[in-house]
Amino acid sequence: MKGVILAGGTGTRLWPLTKILNKHLIPVGKYPMIYYAIDKMRSAGIVDILIVTGKQSAGLFTDLLGSGKELRVKITYKIQEEAGGIAQALMTAEDFVQPHEKFIVLLGDNLFDESLIKMVNDFSNQEKGAKVFLKQVDDPRRYGVPVIDGNKIIQIEEKPSDPKSSYSVTGIYMYHGSVFEVIKRIKPSNRGELEITDVNNVYASEGTLTFNIMNGWWIDAGTFESLHEANVMLKDFKGET
Ligand code: DAU
Repeated sequence: MKGVILAGGTGTRLWPLTKILNKHLIPVGKYPMIYYAIDKMRSAGIVDILIVTGKQSAGLFTDLLGSGKELRVKITYKIQEEAGGIAQALMTAEDFVQPHEKFIVLLGDNLFDESLIKMVNDFSNQEKGAKVFLKQVDDPRRYGVPVIDGNKIIQIEEKPSDPKSSYSVTGIYMYHGSVFEVIKRIKPSNRGELEITDVNNVYASEGTLTFNIMNGWWIDAGTFESLHEANVMLKDFKGET
């Protein structure tokens, strides 16, 4: 299976750290943030990896990671011209995966403890649709929040003021190559972005959006507070990086 790491965006919540440096190159523990997504994929046997990033710092990504050889993975790069949303960034992966192929997507600022192996195996047996990883959180209003009915998600609300569950949809998604046709059909949101939640809601309305629940810790390291928390959690990280 192939993997896509989305590492673009503007990182405005980490300004001025991100004024001259892409968020995913900021140090977390002993490594630049992007290493952890690569490590998670490789630990699940995913070594053919596309990194999508913006123009800012693109050269630093190649300086740091090169072909991926040092990290025992194969890295391909794509540039997202402007930060037009997570789904727009994902669209750049269209010619990286075949129309019938399954693949995993990680948001590069999502740091977590749990292995991806079970989720990947579960999705290998899922004929159609998509899968997301959910995590119970204290303040779901900061995230995409699922409305769950039995073993299906029937809707996701993006950053709702009145969340209908205590779960966050983490930035760990599994799709078939057909997702690109879905992205082509969605329209930009009020903030002018192609939203991954709108993509996932197409599957939710079809009844084909499944989920796994994450038990270990999970951090969206997009704010100073959560970045600090990630540094504490990963201070003694002993991955294979
Ligand atoms: O972390 C989980 C949350 O991520 C989900 O619960 C939300 O449903 C989802 O919309 C997303 O929310 P954020 O507000 O945290 O997204 P953010 O704009 O911070 O972008 C997250 C990652 O996606 C970040 O690692 C950079 C990448 N990205 C983002 C944008 C807007 C891109 O590669 N390109 C982009 O244009």
